[in-house]
Formats: sequence, C-alpha cells, structure tokens
Amino acid sequence: MKITVVGAGAVGATCADNIARRELAEELVLLDIKEGIAEGKAMDMMQTMTMNGFDTKVIGSTNDYSKTAGSSVVVITSGIPRKPGMTREELIGTNASIVKGVTENILKYSPDAIIVVISNPMDTMTYLALKASGLPKNRIIGMGGILDSARFKYYLSQSLNCSANDLQGVVIGGHGDTTMIPLTRLATLNSLPVSNLLSAEQLSQISADTMVGGATLTKFMGTSAWYAPGAAGAILVESIVRDEKKVFPCCVSLEGEYGQSDICLGVPVVIGKNGWEKIVDYKLTADEQAAFNKSADAVRNMNEVLSTLSL
Ligand code: 2OP
Repeated sequence: MKITVVGAGAVGATCADNIARRELAEELVLLDIKEGIAEGKAMDMMQTMTMNGFDTKVIGSTNDYSKTAGSSVVVITSGIPRKPGMTREELIGTNASIVKGVTENILKYSPDAIIVVISNPMDTMTYLALKASGLPKNRIIGMGGILDSARFKYYLSQSLNCSANDLQGVVIGGHGDTTMIPLTRLATLNSLPVSNLLSAEQLSQISADTMVGGATLTKFMGTSAWYAPGAAGAILVESIVRDEKKVFPCCVSLEGEYGQSDICLGVPVVIGKNGWEKIVDYKLTADEQAAFNKSADAVRNMNEVLSTLSL
C-alpha cells in the first residue's frame, strides 16, 4: 500500500505524520513544489520512527510525481492557507489552478487512486477535482466535515464539561464560515440529546463558534490551523485503506441526494476501500433542509467563479 500527500505545508505534513504513526501504508510519499521542503520533512518524520514506533517509509519529493506512482490514496493539501480576516473563498483564484494541476499530475502516475481534497475553498476544490479528473464520483472526497464536527464536539465539551470523546455530533453543508451546518438536534452525550443539557441560546452559541472555528484559530496564529485538519485527513484515509466503513460527513458529489445536484457538499457518507460508498440520509427537518439549500446556493456561486478563471 502506498499513499501520497501533496503539499508539505503544515496541514500536509501533519496529515502525513498521522498517516505514518498509524502505519496506514508501507510507503508514504510527501510531495511539494518548494525545493527540499518535502525531503526535509520526510527525513525528519523518519527520524521519529524509533520513538513513535512505526515502520512506514516516508519519502520526500520536490515536484517529481513519478515517485508517487501507484498510490492507492492521494491527499491534496496544496495551495495557500488563509490569513487573519480572509475567508476560505478568497483563496480560489490562487488555489484552483494549483489543485487542477496537482490532480492531473497525480492521475498520470496513479490512475486508480482515491483522491482526498483538503485545499480550500474545499467544496469548490473538490468539485474542480471531480470535473478535472473525470473520475467516478466515489473516488473524490473532500475533507471538511470531519474537522468541523471535531470542532463542534470540542465546543460542546467545553460547555458540558465532559470529554469530547463521549460526544456524537455532525456538521454537514459547506466548509465555510457561513455555509456549515452543525446538526445540534442530533448531537448527543452518550445517547442523551445535548438539547436536554444545554439551552437553545447555548446551542446557538456553540454552532456559531463552530462555524468560525477555523477563523478563530487563524486569528490566533496568523495562518490557518493544521493539527486538527491533518488528523482529520488521516482518519479519513484510515477508513479507506482499512475498509472500516465509518460514517463521516464528507464533501461528495450529489445527484439528487439531500435535494441537490451538480455540486459537491458535505453529507454523511460511508467510507471504505472504494472511497465514499453510500450517502446516509439523516432525514433533515424543514429548517435543516432550508439551511442546507442555502449552503448549496453559496457553494454553487463559488463553483461558478471557476468558469471565470483561466484554468
Ligand atoms: C480549517 O478549517 C484548514 O480549512 C481548514 O482549519
């Protein structure tokens, strides 16, 4: 088993580190366009083997896609991250051509790969990767909802003074400050609805904090986050390579499901060896469906920007 992570920035390197520690592959390639950065980070990771107890071989490559040949899963993290005050959507001009180029290069050497997209604006980059690759829809998966759900559970745990590991909570819709939809109605603490424990005002504050979770971190650090995005990418890869059939909210191509078509948007899906294998219907309320439709409108507007760019 071989896995590639494209982009050796903070998110890509953290994702690779998590993949290596979990020993999801015999060989892990980290590729970046910037001279030496991927080789250096790969070597640094290899030097943690004896301390972290993994045997995955990590190989760095400066833009040599032949090294990625035969990868089963490829994670795309390439592109610029946002700066404080920026939305993910503002990155489209720069990141669209990068993601398109990376997708094409990857497929030259790994035509059977399942592609995981993390680059922002993620929903539009996933749609672009789907269109640019022409791959069957099940092999293109955008990672946003796993991260947003982890942040949702973090904020819930802070209010409930409980372990986030005892919480179930899912965020669907777009991976944008105004497009994500934390499903507070379905969130539970060990099967007990959190709405039994928190007021409507508290839940609404938790939703608002979740939606700007990435922006809050960007403001703190001057650049966007990496620990949780990288870990989220790795658990998605794990469910693919171990065929775990976990249900995660992921950005996938919709063809009528959840009332939307010709769009990639976050919905709960089963993740296994074939990529995303099934969309799970959470039977949204009318209000949740209205929020989902609004999120789809915003993402569709962003997708339309793609046709104005010379890609
Ligand atoms: C985030 O929300 C990088 O989009 C990612 O932190």
